Formats: sequence, C-alpha cells, structure tokens
Amino acid sequence: MSQTKSQTDKADIGLIGLAVMGQNLVLNMADHGFSVAVYNRSADKTNDFLAGQAAQKTIQGAYSLPELVQSLKTPRKVMLMVKAGEVVDDFITQLVPLLDEGDIIIDGGNSLYTDSTRRTNALKQQGILFIGTGVSGGEEGARNGPSIMPGGNVEAWAAVKPIFQAIAAKVNDQACCDWVGKEGAGHYVKMVHNGIEYGDMQLISEAYQLMREGLGLSADECHDVFARWNTGVLDSYLIEITADILTFNDTDGAPLIDKILDSAGQKGTGKWTGISSLDMGVPLTLITESVYARCLSSLKDERGVAAEIYPRTIVANTEDKEAVLQAIHDALYASKIISYTQGYMLMKEAAKEFKWDLNYGGIALMWRGGCIIRSTFLSEIKRAFDEQPDLQNLLQDSFFEHAIKSSQANWRKAVIFGISQSIPTPALSSALAFFDGYRSATVSANMLQAQRDYFGAHTYERIDAPRGERFHTDWIKSGGNISSSSYEV
Ligand code: 6PG
Repeated sequence: MSQTKSQTDKADIGLIGLAVMGQNLVLNMADHGFSVAVYNRSADKTNDFLAGQAAQKTIQGAYSLPELVQSLKTPRKVMLMVKAGEVVDDFITQLVPLLDEGDIIIDGGNSLYTDSTRRTNALKQQGILFIGTGVSGGEEGARNGPSIMPGGNVEAWAAVKPIFQAIAAKVNDQACCDWVGKEGAGHYVKMVHNGIEYGDMQLISEAYQLMREGLGLSADECHDVFARWNTGVLDSYLIEITADILTFNDTDGAPLIDKILDSAGQKGTGKWTGISSLDMGVPLTLITESVYARCLSSLKDERGVAAEIYPRTIVANTEDKEAVLQAIHDALYASKIISYTQGYMLMKEAAKEFKWDLNYGGIALMWRGGCIIRSTFLSEIKRAFDEQPDLQNLLQDSFFEHAIKSSQANWRKAVIFGISQSIPTPALSSALAFFDGYRSATVSANMLQAQRDYFGAHTYERIDAPRGERFHTDWIKSGGNISSSSYEV
C-alpha cells in the first residue's frame, strides 16, 4: 500500500469506536506518549472528541477506514472498541483489504471466545495477525489503567505489548496485562472474569439483603459495615462501591438504593460462562446461580403476584446482631473463595480442552488491579499458583484451607439465618452445597447410578472392582441382561 506520510508522522495505533471505553483508552494511550488515530462511524462524535478531551493531545481524527489505515506506522495496529458480534466481523471484512501482511487487528470488546478463535485462525490465513483482548475496569479503568487480557496470535504480541503494558493498571510496578494464550484464550479469561464479577456482585447483594431485611439495618448502617469490611480480607473494588452506593441519597434525601427497581440486566458474559461450564462439565454452581438470580429478579411482576400468595415468614431473630454480621462476613468470604475456586477449575478444564498454556498466577495478577473484581484477595491466589503452578485446586492451598476452616461454622449460620428469614441466598448457599459435595469422599451418586441402571440399563461401576469395569443388574428379575452403551457427554 502506498504511504504518503513518513513513518515518523504516523500514529502508533489506530482505534475504531469512540464510545466510553474507546475514548478513555485513547486518552490513556496519549497520556503514555503514544500517538493515536481515531475513527468513528459517526464523524460528529470524532469531531466532538477531537475538539473536547482529545484537544492538545497526540490524537488525530480519520474520517474513513482507508484514511485511518494510511495514518498508521507499520506494522499497523488497529484496535476495535465496538459492539461484540457482527459489528466486529463487519469491520474486519472492511479492514483486511486495506492492510498488509503482518499488520495487526485487535478486538477489545467483550467478544465471545469462540469468535476470537475463529477470527485468529481466519485472519492468519490472510497474513493478518489478530489479538482478541479482554479489557476490564469500566470508564475509570480505561482512562487510568485497566486490566488487559490479550490472546490470539502470539506473533502480534511484541508490537502491542509496550502500549498495553504502559496503559494497564499497575500493582507493585507490575502491569495488570500479560499474554494470556493463543486463539480465544484472552477473551475466555475475560469471560471468566465477568462470571466471577457476577458471582461477587450477587454475593454482596445477598449479604446486603440479609443485613437490611434480616437484621433491619438502615442503608447508613449497612454502609458502615461494608466500609469496615473493606479494610479487611474482603477489601475490594466491589465492596468499596457498595459502601459508596449506600450513602448516596436521592433528591428527596432518601437513599437512592431504595428507589432502584429490583430487576437486574445482563449483557451475556455471565451466561456464556455458565454455558461453557456445562459444556466442560465443571460444577460452576455459584456463577451459574448468580446468572439465574438475575433472571429471577427480572420476573418482577410475577414475583409481586407470588408475594401476595406466599407472604414471607419471618422467625424472630434472637441472635446478637454483631454475631450475625460476623457470620454474614465469613459466609461472604468463604463463598468468594468457592467462586474463584470454581472459576479456576473452569479455566483449567478449558486450557486442557483447547490446549492453551494458561498462567494461573499471571491471571490473578492481571485481575489484581484495574478490573471490576480487583481485590487484595487476588494476591493470595497469585501466591498460591506461583508457589505451586500445578496446584490442582485452590482449596488445597493451606491459606485457603485455613480461611475456609475458620469461616465454615459462621458460613452455615448465615445461610440458616437467610432460610429462617425467607431471604433468598442462592449464591451463598450454592457455594456451601458445592463445598459440602467437594469435601465429601462419598456422595449420593451411587443411588443415582442404581436408578439409571434400574430403568435404563445404563450400567454402573463397583467399589470392589477396577474403575472402568461396568456392571448391569437385572433389578426386576425380568431375565433381560442387555445393557445400554456407556457413552458419556
Ligand atoms: C468490566 C465489565 C464489563 C461488563 C459490564 C456489564 O470488566 O469492565 O465486566 O466488561 O460489560 O460489567 O456487564 P453486565 O451488563 O452483563 O452486568
């Protein structure tokens, strides 16, 4: 392709899509000394941005894709910050004929990881390098330091790394951004991040309802509790914003939280995490329950009808308030450990399935700062995987063993408190149910296997025979001895 400007006049990177995340990433890049060319489908938005926040910065506008591409240094790096799905494919289709071999397309939206795998492989055939990257942290993170989780074609990484690591959040001078893995690995890890985000948010919301409705605390009192918790083991961005939310008053001086309709939205990344867990056969119960809790919340009118039929029954609480609060705290902490345990179990399975070489400690570091789930807690996960890269399960690490053991009694107490108050705690209780299943050397699946064999001749294994050897019993003495095939999903 002919080049009219000299390489030095050209921009380091191009960015398409000037919505909130796009604009803030561009400003962040410019503040770190990179020159950025920007393009947006509506030229007005580009003009407004250039005349406003981007004025006096190393940011230039482009009003067509050819103009954008021509304004970039080679190898060209074009980052898409557009709506996930077809829009990404449309832009890729338009960009490819304008690019040269070795140029790089980066997708920084919340794309489905299978799309990123498909795009990496398809673009490779055309000589274009692709990166699908998770970017977390919302508007503030994008502006001041997000967590960035890039995957795709590793040949693109050296050219993009200096920009991404410069603009990413830092924890102890380490960038919350590193290469995640090939194909859709970056977007997979971002998807699990979002699933964990769903879990953390649901857990905090359940804890809030236990305090507010179960213990009768005011919004202000709940604020004080969350603010206090934010100085201990639960110290995290989501606890911090929860405390903040609880002090925010509406125009009439009443807490705004009480005016917000209890019907949750979702854009799909939590659902994808749940679907992937079912595909992989990983018991990701807490995150999946959190997705279902949002679905249940959206049945607002129907819940109103049911509430009339089945009014809440409340058992008078005789427990000391502080003791219940401590129980809720411990339940939240233990459940959070279970949520991350399950998230890591899922990533391990995905790595096996897709032959990705994931660095689990590195992922914890990427999530340690900048992103929505950032918390002190992630330092312990990083330490655990740094100490034992082959750690089978977080619950086998001595720090988490101790944390679970010391929270366990209170965890049960908080769940029982919720049940006694008819307050739903799907995330807190499913975490406990998972834990009780996971720590049980024997579970009830022997009965399940017997039932399957009884009605469907699905066969079973015996505790007194080698694994893999299958048995069938003629339970009703029908004389039949034909067993069904033993295929497993
Ligand atoms: C992030 C967030 C972000 C996500 C929103 C909305 O990491 O910055 O995960 O990517 O899009 O939080 O998600 P829901 O609408 O599904 O709650």
